Amino acid sequence: MSEDILANHVTNPDTPDEPNGIGPDGSVTSPLHLMQWIAENRSAFKPPVGNKYLYSGRDFFVMIVAGPNARNDFHRTDSEEFFIQLEGDIIVKTHEGGRIVDHLVREGETFFIPPNVPHAPCRPAGTLGLVVERRRPAGELEHQIFYCDKCHALVEDNEFDCSDIVSAFKQAMEDFWADEERSTCRSCGHRIGKPGPFVMPERTD
Ligand SMILES: [Fe+2]
Repeated sequence: MSEDILANHVTNPDTPDEPNGIGPDGSVTSPLHLMQWIAENRSAFKPPVGNKYLYSGRDFFVMIVAGPNARNDFHRTDSEEFFIQLEGDIIVKTHEGGRIVDHLVREGETFFIPPNVPHAPCRPAGTLGLVVERRRPAGELEHQIFYCDKCHALVEDNEFDCSDIVSAFKQAMEDFWADEERSTCRSCGHRIGKPGPFVMPERTD
């Protein structure tokens, strides 16, 4: 009954062991209860991993992502991203019209990032969110961008082939933070250092 499903399915080679909607016997997997799944997988959301695939399919993938994260790079790609914030509030920074905009995404809210908008999710400790991203075709380019957090000027824009992204991104940001010349804003002289775990700023609302 299921040979047609298997025959027509293309396993994503990047994540062959992640759930892709097809069970070991070739049948379509049953629905799952999201919050129950999260409760059963709590240990996967602790640092340094912080995220886990709910599904990793051919066309798109769905991740549960926990805070805290500790990075100040922005990401730009020719893809959309969809967020549902499940527990706690986060900030998603975007670079729009030459300046950095802080979007507060509260628990229970959704957020949608259009293609080619540089963005940086900032997740405090104790938060959990769901993120849907499009599977990137081979050869598509992704950008890791650093902006000055004082004057918002572009400090560095690095281009990667998306197939290298998992291995290359982390090392690339470490190399940037460690290099004083590269990580110093040429407009105002501010140094873009390696950040600690993100902490939500005090709010007045
Ligand atoms: Fe600057």
